[in-house]
This record gives sequence, C-alpha cells and structure tokens, in this order.
Amino acid sequence: MKDVMLVTGAGQISMAIARRMGYGKKIVLGDKNIENANTIAKIMNDAGYDVLPFEMDLSSRESIRAMIAKCREYGEITMMVNGAGVSPSQAPIEAILRVDLYGTAVLLEEVGKVIAKGGCGVTISSQSGWRMPQLTAEEDRLLATTPTEKLLSLEILQPKNIKDTLHAYQMAKRCNEKRVMYECIRWGERGARLNDIAPGIIVTPLAIDEFNGPRGDFYKNMFAKCPAGRPATADEVANVAELLMSEKGAFITGSTFLMDGGATSSYFYGPLQPKE
Ligand SMILES: NC(=O)c1ccc[n+]([C@@H]2O[C@H](COP(=O)([O-])OP(=O)(O)OC[C@H]3O[C@@H](n4cnc5c(N)ncnc54)[C@H](O)[C@@H]3O)[C@@H](O)[C@H]2O)c1
Repeated sequence: MKDVMLVTGAGQISMAIARRMGYGKKIVLGDKNIENANTIAKIMNDAGYDVLPFEMDLSSRESIRAMIAKCREYGEITMMVNGAGVSPSQAPIEAILRVDLYGTAVLLEEVGKVIAKGGCGVTISSQSGWRMPQLTAEEDRLLATTPTEKLLSLEILQPKNIKDTLHAYQMAKRCNEKRVMYECIRWGERGARLNDIAPGIIVTPLAIDEFNGPRGDFYKNMFAKCPAGRPATADEVANVAELLMSEKGAFITGSTFLMDGGATSSYFYGPLQPKE
C-alpha cells in the first residue's frame, strides 16, 4: 500500500502541484476529459511518478465517490488537490455553478470523510472571487454552511440573480473560500488541514481560452497593469501549495491565499480600478 494523492483536473496547475508534492505517492488523476488525464499521466509517469488517469466528473457526487473508492484500493488518501474547473469563457452559467461551486463543495465534503490523519488538501479558487462586491454576512454564511445538496437552490444562485458567466464564476470561487473555512473544521477533527489558493492569471489552456475569449483585452490589460506586470506560471502556484501542504504550513488551515501579482490591489486602489 502507498500514500495516495487524489487530484482532480488534469490541467497545468494540478500537474505542477502533483509534481511538487506527489513523489513517492500513488497519484490518482481525475478528469472529465480522459485524454487530458492520459496526457498528463504520461508526462509524469515518464518522469518517475506513479499516476493513474481516471475518468470522473466533479459535478457528480457518484463520480467523486467512485474516484475516492479507486484511490482507497491503493492506500489512504493523504493529499488532495482540486484543480478541476471551468472558466467563464468555457461554459454556461449552470455548468460553472455545477462544477466549480457544487462539485468543489461535494469533493471537500466527501474527501473530508476519509482523509488520513496528518493529511492535507488544497483547492484552487480564483482572484475573481475577491473582485466581486462584498456579500452580506448572511449570504457568506449560506455559501459556507448550506448542505451541499441544497446549495444550488439558494436564492442568490438562481438565474435571475446571476448576471452572466463571470458573475457565476465569481460566486463559485467565493463559495470555494467559504466552503474551505467550513470544511476545515471537519478535516481538523481527523487531524487534517484544508486550504485554498486564489490565483491571478496563470498561463494554462484555461487562461489562453480567456485571452482569446470575449474578455481577452480585459485580461491582457489586467496583467499588464498589475504590480507584477505579467501573468504567472503554474509552478508558482505550486510554490504556494508546497508551503500549505508541507510541515511548514502545519498551522495553516481554512485559509485562502491570494496570489495574483497584486491585480486585486490595483483593481481597488490602483490603475486597474474600473472607470465609472
Ligand atoms: N489559469 C488561470 O489563470 C486561473 C486563474 C485562477 C483560477 N484558476 C482555476 O484553477 C483551476 C485549474 O485551472 P487550469 O488553469 O489549470 O485549467 P486547465 O484548463 O489547464 O485544467 C482544468 C481541467 O479541468 C477539467 N475539468 C473541467 N470540468 C471538469 C469536470 N466537471 N470534472 C472533472 N474535470 C473537469 C478539464 O478537462 C481540464 O483538464 C480552475 O478551477 C480554474 O478556475 C485558473
């Protein structure tokens, strides 16, 4: 038996974190698009990792449970990385809410039932959740604590209250942060930790879809005018994940780390402030 790392989303961010933290472990790499999982598994297996590609859909509890069961054939789940997701230019409102919001909430809940003592997890939200106007304390509480099967019935998530796909994405990512705060308490009861990384623009296929999508100019302007003056690489997300998932992060749980090259700061107080 081996320690198992459960990874969703065979994208660049997941791969960077899996390469940094997954050596010596069995890595079960889930993706809705099995071709993506096969591609990343081949790159990693050719580099000495032990990766099993697995077809799964983050928006389905049944599928998440099947993936957890597959992991447990190899040993205890000691690490979880949730890097599956769809972006505002890739999917309609309902899909964004089902995958990014509901699916993530279910994954944190289900892995929280089995995570090993001393284990840890990270999920990937986004700077997007930080740019939206504040929600009320009650709305935040509802996103944090509503039972997963009732989440998508919340009034604030109904179609008449969601303007567009960007708004859906922002709500999903805000919910991820709140859900991490809620679930880290249950993970803590098992001696495990759970955190969230909120990246700015990281060059991956998902971001490239955004650069070429309807908000392409907005994104290019964002990295040009943020204090860092550039987009980041997935390996830089792995730098933060390494802190959160290693012993050095032993006191960090329930946190969201914003790493966006200062774009959010510039959006509120600098040259990226929206013009009225
Ligand atoms: N790239 C960025 O600039 C950026 C910025 C902030 C946040 N993020 C977030 O990081 C996460 C990973 O993004 P990435 O840039 O590595 O993307 P990516 O496109 O490289 O990978 C995402 C993967 O998720 C998979 N996926 C989509 N829907 C799925 C589902 N229902 N079930 C299982 N797998 C599914 C896709 O097939 C794809 O392989 C996403 O949640 C994204 O919102 C990305």
